Amino acid sequence: MFQDQLVSFSGVQPSGNLTIGNYLGAIKNFSTFSEKYKCFYCVVDEHAITVRQVPADLRRRTYETLALYMACGLDPDKNTLYVQSHVHEHAELGWILNCFTMFGELSRMTQFKDKSAKHADNINAGLFTYPVLMAADILLYQTDVVPVGIDQKQHVEICRDIAERFNQVFPDTFTIPEPVIPQQGMKIMSLAEPTKKMSKSDENVNAVVYILDDRDTIIRKFKRAVTDSDTVVRCADGKDGINNLMTIYSTFTGKTFDEIEREFDGKGYGDFKLAVGEVCADALAPVQEKYKCFISDKAQLEAQMKKGAEEASYVARRTLSKVQKKLGFVQVR
Ligand code: TRP
Repeated sequence: MFQDQLVSFSGVQPSGNLTIGNYLGAIKNFSTFSEKYKCFYCVVDEHAITVRQVPADLRRRTYETLALYMACGLDPDKNTLYVQSHVHEHAELGWILNCFTMFGELSRMTQFKDKSAKHADNINAGLFTYPVLMAADILLYQTDVVPVGIDQKQHVEICRDIAERFNQVFPDTFTIPEPVIPQQGMKIMSLAEPTKKMSKSDENVNAVVYILDDRDTIIRKFKRAVTDSDTVVRCADGKDGINNLMTIYSTFTGKTFDEIEREFDGKGYGDFKLAVGEVCADALAPVQEKYKCFISDKAQLEAQMKKGAEEASYVARRTLSKVQKKLGFVQVR
């Protein structure tokens, strides 16, 4: 809670390659959040360097991510959109919280185990303490809710544990946040292996539809989507490919599964796949138009970043100085 308003905070890695899974499962609904919450969306460039980055790519993706979020409907006048490294309180609170986090609990984090297996030549301390910086992100804003994918639930839980531990020693410091996970039905699966989640880092480009894919690419990818040997468009156990396409079609059009089955009665998979590709391309066209406009104006994006960082700093500074005072750090002004 901040100034009588409930707070929502989410962090996004600076990668412009967001998928329709990210769009349908999360971003599309973010704009409705600002009706109920004071919303912070932070591009987490400091988290990104826990694995090696090419500096020019990191810089470009930071701009792209901000532009894409704005193109998806996040209005910078209603939401605070900013870059993590522009608000130094994140790193400072991160250090303090390191001293309230146990080696054992960090060792149990699934993402650390996965990432250290994948980047065996660079198991750095930042990769290990990644969840502590994430806890600082969240706790700085006295956050009530954290909209995240299911893969980040464990990180929000450790954030709660850290906050509760701190509050036990220094009462009434942090709000304890709740994760908000999109419902199961919104999970969009890979077009090539429909039992697997659609992932922006999938090596098979045909498995994934990106928000910025052009129309022909979108239609081609849907045409190639893996289905089954049945021919009737209907939702059923074991028809993972068709179930996934029906979910995508239904989410873009608002039609129910029954309506979709009726619409494609007597038609084959080919017609259905083309229709899914078309509604997807139609829905993304205006997002892509706006994106082109935002990304071409660097000065405007920088002005947004600056404004966002100022708004965020105002809140972050208050929490950090409260924490520093409680800890016994001398404050001179
Ligand atoms: N770890 C998150 C991810 O990889 C990104 C993130 C960083 C985040 N800080 C956050 C998400 C704070 C929610 C809240 O997706």
